[in-house]
Amino acid sequence: MDILIRPDAEGVAAAAADILADYARRGATLGLATGSTPLGAYQELIRLYEAGEVSFADSTAFLLDEYVGLAPEHEQSYHHTIRHEFTSHVDFDDSRVHSPDGTAADPWVAAQEYEQAIIDHGGIDVQLLGIGTNGHIAFNEPGAALNGPTHVDTLQPQTIADNSRFFDRPEDVPIHVLTQGLGTIQRAGHLLLLATGEGKADAIAALAEGPLTTMCPASVLQSHPRATVIVDEAAASKLHHRDYHRFVEENKLPRKN
Ligand code: F6R
Repeated sequence: MDILIRPDAEGVAAAAADILADYARRGATLGLATGSTPLGAYQELIRLYEAGEVSFADSTAFLLDEYVGLAPEHEQSYHHTIRHEFTSHVDFDDSRVHSPDGTAADPWVAAQEYEQAIIDHGGIDVQLLGIGTNGHIAFNEPGAALNGPTHVDTLQPQTIADNSRFFDRPEDVPIHVLTQGLGTIQRAGHLLLLATGEGKADAIAALAEGPLTTMCPASVLQSHPRATVIVDEAAASKLHHRDYHRFVEENKLPRKN
């Protein structure tokens, strides 16, 4: 796992956008995350697009997750959010921006269909991830199957509280979600996890320096052959090996691909 430490959220956004833009230039399949953390990276990608430095015309996107019960046009559905925050501002073909169907009559069937759609497409080249304060990635809460497929999950009270800032009232946050599983995520070619702020410091320390355990779903990045974690100083503040991570980055042999 590579851990890149940047001074602030802007540095995290710029580093993430650089990596994602390289994939987009190759027409890669991007796994996209919602939530607050990737917004800076999306804004930077929009800037690069407007400057003529990147195009998404040949890319396909798969979202990580969706709330069960929210229609695509609902302001807080991830279907709507990703368009509002990112894909509608660049030349992404809207029909190639996929997300689980939160209003399917049978969410479990919708989960299987989404998993199959990713497989049929040939998989995800780079998967962008945020991390919950409880260590979740996508909506795989502590206890999730380490190699599970896309599935229906029940949010933890902590996640509902964290996400209530996006809704008028805490009771409006859906309890159930469709989410790529930890197995789905681990099949992506490259995992790119971003975290900013002190509130994520414990989760980042658990991800990088704790045991590989379902109690910290993000710790599965430890076993992925190509995982990059980009954090600001605040989110890195509880890493014991901060200096080593800096040393590794300063002395890295550049990859050829
Ligand atoms: C969003 C997602 C979640 C968020 C996580 C962090 O698609 O899958 O795992 O990445 O809850 O959210 P923020 O970035 O809002 O702190």
